Amino acid sequence: MAPKNEKVVFLKLEKLRETIEQYNFAYYVLDDPVASDSEYDRLMRQLEALEEKYPNFSVLNSPSQRVGVRPIREFKEVRHGLPMLSLENALSKTELANWLDRRVKRPLKAVEVAGTDIDFAAEPKLDGAAVSVRYEKGLLVLGCTRGDGNIGEDITHNIRTIRAVPLRLKGRHPPSVLEVRGEVFMPKANFMEYNAQALEKDEKLFVNPRNAAAGSLRQLDPRLTAQRPLDIFFYGIGDVSGWNTPDSHSELLKKLRDFGLKTCHDSKIVKGLQGCLDYYSSISKKRDDLPYEIDGVVYKVDSLRIQSELGLSRRHPNWAVAHKFPPQEEITIVKSIEFQVGRTGALTPVARLHPVFVGGVTVSNATLHNVDELKRIDIRVGDSVIISRAGDVIPKIVKVLRERRPKNASIVDAPRSCPICSSDTIRAEGETVVRCGGGLICLAQLKER
Ligand code: IVH
Repeated sequence: MAPKNEKVVFLKLEKLRETIEQYNFAYYVLDDPVASDSEYDRLMRQLEALEEKYPNFSVLNSPSQRVGVRPIREFKEVRHGLPMLSLENALSKTELANWLDRRVKRPLKAVEVAGTDIDFAAEPKLDGAAVSVRYEKGLLVLGCTRGDGNIGEDITHNIRTIRAVPLRLKGRHPPSVLEVRGEVFMPKANFMEYNAQALEKDEKLFVNPRNAAAGSLRQLDPRLTAQRPLDIFFYGIGDVSGWNTPDSHSELLKKLRDFGLKTCHDSKIVKGLQGCLDYYSSISKKRDDLPYEIDGVVYKVDSLRIQSELGLSRRHPNWAVAHKFPPQEEITIVKSIEFQVGRTGALTPVARLHPVFVGGVTVSNATLHNVDELKRIDIRVGDSVIISRAGDVIPKIVKVLRERRPKNASIVDAPRSCPICSSDTIRAEGETVVRCGGGLICLAQLKER
């Protein structure tokens, strides 16, 4: 090819890539499309055709290359330049007030801001999978999971398939290194739609949007990840060089947006404890209408100078806290009460329930500790009960709704014989536990041992 012609092709390719990435940005980051699907497809086909014809000019950071062609063999380990910490939790107003005193106000005593209401950047606590994405000279070079906080897995091949993640930062002077941290999630509507289709195709369903996001990111084949409707919000930075870090977290988020990185629109600057609590209640009210799943809100001291003064503890930053929502509850009906036999022969009652979606998962069983519990909470087959499931803990029956009890609700007693081996059951004096007396002739006990 003559050098002149070569230059024309090169410029044409660059122009196509830029336009397609602009369309992606408008569609996936701004939620405000600037081109029709057919126009987008036409440009993408043109780009692919040109790249095929001139393979010397094809680059990894082209929008045509988002979905790699081959699965990777295994995940490589990546040590994070700066650890990816987790947040301390506050489960109530009192815990939040204590956190504020202990971690922020007291340590700042000597400093001028101690007496005043500190500015916090308040954000939804997204329920997805934390990732770190590294840009060098504006180009995406690495994406990884949080892992244990120090070492994560290299999931670059999958991160690149998420259209809301720019392959190249916007702006003329990108930092030499910019590591951004954020949460990959599957929007609620996409999660429901995905599961509805999976059900039709007889494929495995996702338990909740968080699992959907985490599972999709841990695929070896990027072509699978590319089919999952994933989205991202960035909320912080890691390793950075060649950049003047802004003075506050809110400024930082603005700068990230200028780079074309998507941030959450529901964040806000609030003042002191009262400001945090007001934000918490306003987000709680909006929670069900938000298009993404959250399990609380996060408050971060807005000033980066104060953040660095407060510093880090071993696992958490001292300048941020997660204010979690209370456990989620749902009402359902007890279909039956059965007994499971454990390793020691102990019989544990299990309530089989009409399946309900609570706290992000479908619950159809709840254990009841021991036979005395049956009497204590007076639970019967046919009863309506309140099931609670907080974040990632085991579902619990928190209340039996006596006022809803049907006339034919039936009491269940501890069985006289083992449901597995039919040996007589025994209950020692003063013990709450009923056991199978079969010892090792009982398959349940043998198996468990
Ligand atoms: S900041 C050093 N902001 O919560 C601070 N985290 O327990 C690091 N998360 O692993 C986190 N939404 O996956 C931050 N707006 C938000 C968040 C958020 C969700 C997750 C994140 C992290 C966990 C912390």
